[in-house]
Amino acid sequence: MKAITYYDTPERSDYEVILRTKKLLIDDFEISQILECFPELAVVLNENREIVAFNKKALVLFKNFTEDEIYGKRVGEALGCIHANDEEAGCGTSIFCRECGAAKSIRTTRIENISEEMECRITALNISKEFSLDLRVTTSNIYLDGLRFIIFAIKDISEEKRRLALEKIFFHDVLNTAGAIHGISSILQETDSETTIKEFSSLLENSAQQLVNEIQMQRDLRNAENGILFVDIRTRSVNMILSDVHSQYQNHSITKGKLIDVKLLDPDIEIQTDMTLIKRCLGNLLKNAIEATESKVMPIEIFAVETTDKILFNVKNQTVIPEEVQRHIFYRSFSTKEKSGRGIGTYSVKLLAESYLKGKVYFVSTEETKTIFTIALPKKFRV
Ligand SMILES: Nc1ncnc2c1ncn2[C@@H]1O[C@H](COP(=O)(O)OP(=O)(O)O)[C@@H](O)[C@H]1O
Ligand SMILES: [Mg+2]
Repeated sequence: MKAITYYDTPERSDYEVILRTKKLLIDDFEISQILECFPELAVVLNENREIVAFNKKALVLFKNFTEDEIYGKRVGEALGCIHANDEEAGCGTSIFCRECGAAKSIRTTRIENISEEMECRITALNISKEFSLDLRVTTSNIYLDGLRFIIFAIKDISEEKRRLALEKIFFHDVLNTAGAIHGISSILQETDSETTIKEFSSLLENSAQQLVNEIQMQRDLRNAENGILFVDIRTRSVNMILSDVHSQYQNHSITKGKLIDVKLLDPDIEIQTDMTLIKRCLGNLLKNAIEATESKVMPIEIFAVETTDKILFNVKNQTVIPEEVQRHIFYRSFSTKEKSGRGIGTYSVKLLAESYLKGKVYFVSTEETKTIFTIALPKKFRV
């Protein structure tokens, strides 16, 4: 019975044939050297798109398999693509493969005999955890002993994509705030009314502060992602952190008509941390809590809990997050809010607090507990 395919050819080679080809390629010193010259994963595929040679860098992405297991697999199978086993004939034969840049690139090279380059996003499973790879794929034909093979190489462009997405959000937010500042200053210039001047000066102050925050946040996030964020660890009062964050948001325009309740520790205790970063992280959580709260009757709380070796900073609000939304929290660019260019708040909190403050960030959100986001920081920061 012929195997089913919704895209590329389903035929598979005998493992013995694969091993013979593998030997042929391993004995060819030049091919091995060429493969190692690629900066990232590069593999050689046979006519059935099965891997018959690969470079050392490929092992990083094929980490679920031993070297022997990789031979004879197709690229999606070796990467752990979630569609690789949709059909019996494997990678390249499912209905989803029609949209896969890697599958299309291989097919074009094979059928049209030309080199091809395409982008693709592969969702893969690594020990039951899903992760996404944004790749630029190139495919070219090579001939050896009269046989045709395809060299398949990738460049991981996840970073590039993320940077572009973050930049877009940054420009969007900063332009909005700068626009607000511009608008308020025009009003101030045209009015003589004392009350208008008073009201709008304080709005101006808020928006200017927000602009500075947004720029600093972007700078920190970029440095954090590049691994060059400078962390200034000093001994700090927990109550000072809580009350600073509280007062920054209590007078913020988004808080109008809502109540933020700060509970201070009695007695106060000290913690070794970076004051600016923890305040920025808590500020982001508080902003989400404020945005999720509709009225004064639903108080927002910010408080700390002491354990033996940690301080748990908590931000609580009364709105429960729907389950399908909960699954996406902490992912970059995920947002349920209307304004486009959102969705880096929880992502940046996790990145900054976990990679730079040696903390843990998590949340609960149920009818009983309501929504509580927690940043757990060690009392003593050990390098
Ligand atoms: N405290 C909270 N209460 C309710 N929903 C929340 C809370 N924090 C985050 N969320 C949900 O998580 C999403 C992602 O939050 P975030 O990463 O800060 O991005 P953004 O606030 O820009 O949407 C929000 O759009 C919202 O749906
Ligand atoms: Mg947010």
